[in-house]
Amino acid sequence: MTTALGVFGLCYLFVWCFVGLYLGIKHESHVEELESSAKKGSLTDYFGIWSAWKMHAGAHGHALLLALICIIVALIMPQIGLADMAKTILAVLLIVGTVLASVFHWFYFKPLLGLGSALFLIGILMTIVGFVKGL
Ligand code: HEM
Ligand code: HEM
Repeated sequence: MTTALGVFGLCYLFVWCFVGLYLGIKHESHVEELESSAKKGSLTDYFGIWSAWKMHAGAHGHALLLALICIIVALIMPQIGLADMAKTILAVLLIVGTVLASVFHWFYFKPLLGLGSALFLIGILMTIVGFVKGL
């Protein structure tokens, strides 16, 4: 499962970089939209446009950063003093957590975004405990 965690992290980095490219392509029109709503003086519109963008940029940022953490955990897996079964659970928690937290950040569906974040956090907690046990 360690290999799967590492491969997942690398592939997820690859995929979400394309989302970064998509954001880059949309960036100019996004700024124009912001400018035009600012000129109209509509603070509600301005905030709506800004917050939708921020949600997407945030999903992109977190997807990549959580994927990097999956890769780091895969690299330090030999130093983690947990049983094989626990290591499998740890990898599954990090993979499922990363996918749920990033996809449902993009679509802003709070229950699954929250569930993904919680699974990821449990995975990190297991990593800390296992790393300390393995010292
Ligand atoms: C080909 C690769 C990538 C491209 C084209 C790309 C492009 C972008 C773009 C266009 C934005 C939005 C900027 C804005 O708000 O105006 C952005 C935001 C961001 N990116 Fe990337 N990115 C790439 C890879 C990465 C990687 C590898 C990481 C982290 C490991 C990363 C982390 C972030 C973060 C943290 C943000 C800000 C999120 C926020 O505002 O909350 N990006 N990126
Ligand atoms: C499950 C774990 C995490 C949760 C629940 C979480 C939650 C959040 C929240 C609520 C925000 C503010 C979003 C906004 O108002 O736009 C945020 C922003 C951010 N987080 Fe996380 N985060 C997590 C993990 C991480 C990790 C591991 C990293 C880096 C390795 C990271 C880097 C960032 C960055 C760069 C920003 C954007 C700051 C900005 O735009 O000013 N987060 N995160």
